[in-house]
Amino acid sequence: MALDDGLPSRKELRFAVNGKLVVVRDADPRASLGDFLRDNLLLRGLKMPCRQGGCGACTVVISSPRSSDGVLLRHRPVNSCLRTLCSVDGMLVTTVEGIGSCKGGLHRVQQALVKHNGSQCGFCTPGWVMNMYGLLLETPNPLPQQVEDQLDGNLCRCTGYRPILDAFQSLACSSGDGCSAGDIEEVPTCKNLASLRQDDELEISKGGVTWFRVSSLTSLYKVLRSNAVHDVQLVCGNTSSGVYPRQFKSVVVDISCIDEMRRVSIDSRGIRLGGAASLSDMEAVLNSKKEVSSSYRSLLQHVKRIATHQVRNMGTVAGNLMMTYQNLGFVSDVAVLLFAAEAILTIALSDAVRKDLTIEDFFKLPSVDEIVIVEIFLPLLPESVRFLTYKVALRRVNSHALLNAAFRFDVNSSKGLIQSAPVIVYGGVGHFPVRAKNAEAFLWGKSFTDPQVCDSALEILQKEIVMDPSYGNTSYRTSLVAAYFYKAILSLWPKDRVPSTLQSSISEFSWPITSGTKSFDKGDPSQYPVSKPLPKLSAMSQASGELKYVNDFNFGNELYATYVISTVGNAKIKSIDPARALAENGVVTFISAATLAGAGYNNKVNEFEEVFATSDILYCGQAVGLVVAKSKRVADYAATLVDVQYMDIKKPIITIEDAVSANSFFHNKDRELEFQQGSVTEAFSDSEAILIEGQVSVGNQYHFHLETQQAVCVPSEDGFIEVYSSTQNPSKVQSCVSAGLNRPQHKITVSVKRIGGAYGAKINRSLLIAMACAFAADLLKRPVRLVLDLSTNMQLVGGRSPYFCKYKISARKNGQITGVKMDIINNHGAHFDFEYPTGSTLPNFIDGAYKIPNWDLKTKIARTNTPACTYMRGPVFVETTTMIETALDHVAFTLGLARDQVREINMYEKGDVSLNGQRLNYCNAKLVFDAIKESSNYLIRSKQVDEYNSSNLWRKRGISIVPVKFIAEWHGLQHLALINVHPDGSISIHHSGCEMGQGLDVKVAQVAAMTLGSLQVDVSMEDIAVHTTTTTVANNVAESGGSVASELCAKAVHDGCTQLVDRLRGVKTMLVSGSKSCSWKDLISAAVSSGVDLQARGRVYPAAAEDGPSQYTSFGAGVTEVEVDILTGETFVIRADVLLDCGKSLNPAVDIGQVQGAFIQGLGYFLTEEFHYDPSTGKLLTDGTWEYKPPFARDIPYEFNTALLPNSENPSGFLRSKFSGEPPYGTACSALLAVSQALAAARSQWNGGNGWSPLSSPATPQNVALAAEFPLSSVSFRELFSMNK
Ligand SMILES: Cc1cc2nc3c(=O)[nH]c(=O)nc-3n(C[C@H](O)[C@H](O)[C@H](O)COP(=O)(O)OP(=O)(O)OC[C@H]3O[C@@H](n4cnc5c(N)ncnc54)[C@H](O)[C@@H]3O)c2cc1C
Ligand code: FES
Ligand code: FES
Repeated sequence: MALDDGLPSRKELRFAVNGKLVVVRDADPRASLGDFLRDNLLLRGLKMPCRQGGCGACTVVISSPRSSDGVLLRHRPVNSCLRTLCSVDGMLVTTVEGIGSCKGGLHRVQQALVKHNGSQCGFCTPGWVMNMYGLLLETPNPLPQQVEDQLDGNLCRCTGYRPILDAFQSLACSSGDGCSAGDIEEVPTCKNLASLRQDDELEISKGGVTWFRVSSLTSLYKVLRSNAVHDVQLVCGNTSSGVYPRQFKSVVVDISCIDEMRRVSIDSRGIRLGGAASLSDMEAVLNSKKEVSSSYRSLLQHVKRIATHQVRNMGTVAGNLMMTYQNLGFVSDVAVLLFAAEAILTIALSDAVRKDLTIEDFFKLPSVDEIVIVEIFLPLLPESVRFLTYKVALRRVNSHALLNAAFRFDVNSSKGLIQSAPVIVYGGVGHFPVRAKNAEAFLWGKSFTDPQVCDSALEILQKEIVMDPSYGNTSYRTSLVAAYFYKAILSLWPKDRVPSTLQSSISEFSWPITSGTKSFDKGDPSQYPVSKPLPKLSAMSQASGELKYVNDFNFGNELYATYVISTVGNAKIKSIDPARALAENGVVTFISAATLAGAGYNNKVNEFEEVFATSDILYCGQAVGLVVAKSKRVADYAATLVDVQYMDIKKPIITIEDAVSANSFFHNKDRELEFQQGSVTEAFSDSEAILIEGQVSVGNQYHFHLETQQAVCVPSEDGFIEVYSSTQNPSKVQSCVSAGLNRPQHKITVSVKRIGGAYGAKINRSLLIAMACAFAADLLKRPVRLVLDLSTNMQLVGGRSPYFCKYKISARKNGQITGVKMDIINNHGAHFDFEYPTGSTLPNFIDGAYKIPNWDLKTKIARTNTPACTYMRGPVFVETTTMIETALDHVAFTLGLARDQVREINMYEKGDVSLNGQRLNYCNAKLVFDAIKESSNYLIRSKQVDEYNSSNLWRKRGISIVPVKFIAEWHGLQHLALINVHPDGSISIHHSGCEMGQGLDVKVAQVAAMTLGSLQVDVSMEDIAVHTTTTTVANNVAESGGSVASELCAKAVHDGCTQLVDRLRGVKTMLVSGSKSCSWKDLISAAVSSGVDLQARGRVYPAAAEDGPSQYTSFGAGVTEVEVDILTGETFVIRADVLLDCGKSLNPAVDIGQVQGAFIQGLGYFLTEEFHYDPSTGKLLTDGTWEYKPPFARDIPYEFNTALLPNSENPSGFLRSKFSGEPPYGTACSALLAVSQALAAARSQWNGGNGWSPLSSPATPQNVALAAEFPLSSVSFRELFSMNK
């Protein structure tokens, strides 16, 4: 077909990948670029955990002609999960494989990450590399601020971002210094560059979908007319599919290459953005002229908070407006900004008819079918106009607004008058942004410094902005309406007239360049390479994207499985009808409990849980069955066609409150706790005791490992099955699969090369996935791959358990606590997780770092219709730390004592026995506390916080210091190692642990090098390779969890290597006399000739410790300072310091990385991460990156200092070391308590007293603003102004 009157359209795609021309003749228009690169070109460096544009792991760089000469290229990092394959026609695509490799040499971006230890599990790493590489292509010598700004689109759950920021900051050039021409990037190109074009038209058909790329509006309308009978859809950046997953219609028209819609220009009247201009184009043009960027400064800052760099590089302004029109529930920033800026849209109704519309008129159109936004005109602002915008979101970037607003005020500053019609627009109120016309009319011509005028305007505003409750909490959003208006009015005042106490509430926020220090001992040369800060063994291949995870290996002849999960949470299955799914081309089978009736055991994960539901649906998201198909896309689609009917549908029990009202509890004596020590009754009745009561809750948390739960099962002859699982628990996977298939364990081999993040989720929950996959593989006698998508993972698998705690405390006047009574309820979900502790481990942690003589603890376990909760980094420890630390703050505030003093007076000392019966023979609690108090300047900064609070009305600060105690439990945990020394001197190690980013492999290699090197031979780290963990080598071993696997595996390796040393000592004496050295290679040759056995097996099976139930106790402390905007509830973490007693660290680079990562994960738990369920079905609503918000790089403390306690020793640990994975997590509780202090300062300002009350977690903006208890919406400007006097 000829789309235009010229050439016929092209039917094949031509583009370049990593410099090589790629021609695709049968392209599938539904395919994403990411899938094509991974599946067809086998470029597996990029990962696709979310497919929503929300994590950045799939980032690649696309380069396209910037000008018509086709020479100048524009380079943009984009999300390859959202980018369609067809849309890269004519472009150059660069993936992580294209910029560097371990063999050919790493690119400087990759090198920087390796040098700064910027990767842990490595799953996110290629995405970071490509985002930074994209920046360097466009801006070869970026300033530090540009680097920080660029990194708003990548999620890392492991590192805490600090090392990544340090790595990339090292490539920035501070004010031009240190930047050399040698740093200029080699721009991607391709030999066949000239053959790549985007100005011709495309027509690609496959799978019932035809993709047209048109180059003119004439062609577009021709396609629309000739396809009038079809479902036609326009596409530009396709990023809306990250928010609203799309099934492509039968005709898709790509309008991104229509020449007139790509233009962006600026003249004396305003900015013209073509209908295909991206949000980045808008950002660039706003930045291009100083007058524009200063008058639209607020708008520009706001645009930087829309989505991410990668999304803004593709997503268009016009597309955003269309999305707003088309989707209820979408809160657009773009629409609010353009509405208030009085932008004009030029729309095409046909190829010949154009019409100009205001944004308001656009939203009034009865339909937008066949309408194209051709241009957006943004008028420049006269000097007298102030344009102010506001947005509160859960997270600083990549987070949709909870409520947003924009104000356009034309002011006469000298007279204090609003001199022409203002524009006031709010978004997030309902479907479309709302203009406050009555308030605008009222304000016109009036004085903005007159409190009475402002009061009346606010009153009018609050009447006309009526909240749709389905968009979020009404009272919070109503208070934001007033808060934004208040801020906007105050911002109009001349700076010198704004009272100093109010200045901070209107100060413009600008992103700071973050920084941080890390410090640790130099290490002990007698132990080298142990104690050296070495990079992880796979750091280079992580950075180059060469490292492979479960989903990166191909086994041939594979099938793909997708779960069918329940859509209600409390019901019974009436029927399951897979007929429509089975009828789909490419579907192989459907497996459910019924299929397994005669073939396997459906409930061998544990006694409580079925692999597939037979009848009872216990939670929404429970596995009902598995569709198996020839491709993942077919399996995913067919899974939506399985018809599951339910009966006996009841309202789900979701929260602890629901469970209490329904009296829904587990009654299990092994997991509940009734524990007394001393006599609380006596403590409470002591005449000197001051009694304090309160309650506090902590919420759920999703692990957010970037690699979702997954397994590939490969059957072979004789009933053997190989299971490649992303598990922390290979032995348990082996036994469960064996039991499920009723097959001896020797026929099941489980292998784990590495895991892309786990944090406890893959200890028990991976069993379910591996079993389901194994059933399918065994049944079909073909390899089956089961990789959960993010939403299924979040719905099917539980996270951290929420808790509610009611406490009563007795304390003396000096702050000494004499008794604690706590009644605790935890929400465990629908059933127990395998071996997951609840009450029983409480005494290990609930006492924090404090010696309190009398205790009375009771726990109950709520049974709810949510997935079973499971281990998550520091389970029970983190939650109970929050309880005891909140209670201690309560004591301090009630008694008017300094919070650090209350902690000090109660702190454990050497020789004390902790609540779990552990004698603390080596107690560093006080040492760590004193050290961090000193290094963080806690006392001085506390005073500064008080001063700040007394001189600022709406911004309050808080600073908090929290000590933690954590115990190492390793009694009875077996770990094994197999060490082979090969004739060439190279050494291979198999161990029983799972490397998931915690640096286990490098630590065991360091220990092997040290141990073998004790023969005075030159064993180097390069001689050692650590191999896949597999049950054929190490079975019946403990899981990798509880932070201890690194030490135990290192101990097992040490054991094996020591045996080798014993065997080799005689050979060495034969070779050289005395302590003289010889080369390792010579020694091994001699040993081979002498017939020495060069294979050794190491084993640890730790006995019970002598001084209590745990092997040793670890101490840490954190100090966090925050600033809270009381009007909006937003928290800014100004500074955090964390100190950990890590004994004699085996590898301080690894351990400090654990400290950084754990703290930031904790920050998410305490500040931004929250679960929401649909109350009628029990469906998890926060099941993806759009709603669930772990911290991004923009959310970390502006200053983040981490340290390992110097000169520390741990006689009870392996080589005097201590673990590092979990204890620092608890120190993040200091952020919650700091927010709580800031709130106390605010409340005491208007209510008197100390203003303190317990703050539950998470302290999201909404929860903080509501906890501030300030009824902003009913307070007048007169009062507000007078409060200042
Ligand atoms: C991770 C993520 C975070 C985000 N965060 C934010 C945020 O914080 N704030 C916010 O406001 N938005 C946010 N967005 C939305 C984002 O701005 C939009 O996805 C983007 O602007 C849409 O543009 P597009 O070109 O990709 O549209 P497409 O996905 O290509 O199209 C969207 C719709 O618009 C239509 N369309 C596109 N262009 C035109 C045109 N010129 N004329 C007529 N119809 C057209 C299409 O037919 C389609 O129906 C986010 C998106 C993602 C993926
Ligand atoms: S997979 Fe593309 S952004 Fe997450
Ligand atoms: S290293 Fe970033 S997610 Fe694991």
